[in-house]
Amino acid sequence: MDSILVRGNGALSGVIPIAGAKNACLTLMPATLLSDEPLTLTNAPRLSDIATMTQLLQSLGAEVASLQDGLVLAMSSHSISNFKADYDIVRKMRASILVLGPMLARYGHAVVSLPGGCAIGARPVDLHLRALEAMGATLDLRDGYVHAKAAGGRLKGAVFEFPFVSVGATENALMAATLAKGTTILKNAAREPEIVDLARCLRRMGAQIDGEGTSTLTIEGVDRLGGATHPVVTDRIELGTYMLVPAICGGEVECLGGTLELVGAFAERLEAAGVSVTQTNRGLKVSRKNGRVRAVDVTTEPFPGFPTDLQAQMMALLCTAEGTSVLEEKIFENRFMHAPELMRMGAKIDVHGGTATVTGVEKLKGAPVMATDLRASVSLILAGLAAEGETVVSRVYHLDRGYERVEEKLRACGAHIERIRA
Ligand code: EPZ
Repeated sequence: MDSILVRGNGALSGVIPIAGAKNACLTLMPATLLSDEPLTLTNAPRLSDIATMTQLLQSLGAEVASLQDGLVLAMSSHSISNFKADYDIVRKMRASILVLGPMLARYGHAVVSLPGGCAIGARPVDLHLRALEAMGATLDLRDGYVHAKAAGGRLKGAVFEFPFVSVGATENALMAATLAKGTTILKNAAREPEIVDLARCLRRMGAQIDGEGTSTLTIEGVDRLGGATHPVVTDRIELGTYMLVPAICGGEVECLGGTLELVGAFAERLEAAGVSVTQTNRGLKVSRKNGRVRAVDVTTEPFPGFPTDLQAQMMALLCTAEGTSVLEEKIFENRFMHAPELMRMGAKIDVHGGTATVTGVEKLKGAPVMATDLRASVSLILAGLAAEGETVVSRVYHLDRGYERVEEKLRACGAHIERIRA
């Protein structure tokens, strides 16, 4: 297992290109199952999760060609031969459940392994299943798989209200509804930019969707969808992560492709902490004024609130802030595993249930630490960039799931960072 070695090197400045969004691409790829015409994605990120989704779609019989060094994914599912998503792939990546809605909508049946939990929580899929049942799916859970059938061979439009916001369940239901017979209204739907991007792609394929970006989605089912070419939206979590580099180290970084629309609540917290964020015609320019940032409180919420996927990274910044910050994690039940690792670097963090209280220190100290999940891994790298001495982050396979070419992008800003091949 590779590790990454980081050595604090003072202020960092430069330009960082932001890639296409992992969490948009992981729902756009299964959309190929909705049509027998080609679906091509451009601006795709080069990540191991994308390779896993590619493997899953190919196991179902879809063609997925990765072109232009992975930036383009040319897909076609005119000859799906297998309707079973196996546990050995699904267990590696929860987003695999997103093939269920499209397969059910297009073919009337599907067998998908239940994803199982992951490091940050149990992450059940009950809302995915309840939304599909509302559209006339019969679901039989046995031997760890969901055996799904559309009553009468085709899903029916329905009105369904999510008891709480779920990104994945909204995506599964939205894709399923595009081919259902009649009108579907999804209430308390997720509003994330990745949902907006999915709706735009589906509309290019001929779907009739209204309301994306709001809490109510209205979909008029159609009999078939065509092909399309669609650019993957910029990754707001990668964007927020790199915005924290000048915040935690000092310096000035321009994140190409970044917009305030993608990171509004996050940018507001950064500015409250004393970091300046400016929209340029190329992206977002971020610089820390003088001295340490100020402590700020953070509560994670569904979009447009502060994203849970930036909580770990923000905690790294607040470990060096002047004062005490309170971080509340409201989305996942176990998303503070980066805290004990940051404490090995001298951070002062007190965790009680879903609340972490961080008392800022002048400087963190480099140390060997372990990545526990995707966003925790990059939080430790951020801490290492600002710490005195050397930090070695182990188990960086977590990092490679969601961040492409991290060493290259950070080295371009003057960081001392290298990968130690195991
Ligand atoms: C998506 O996960 C993202 N993943 C996550 O990013 C992100 O943290 C999350 O949305 C919240 O924004 C992808 O898009 C591939 P949810 P998802 O359904 O869809 C519970 C990353 O780091 N829940 O909005 O799984 C669930 O356990 C990843 O890139 C149910 O109880 O998130 C969680 O506590 C991590 N039943 C909460 O709801 C369900 O049926 C929100 O989950 C579904 C979810």
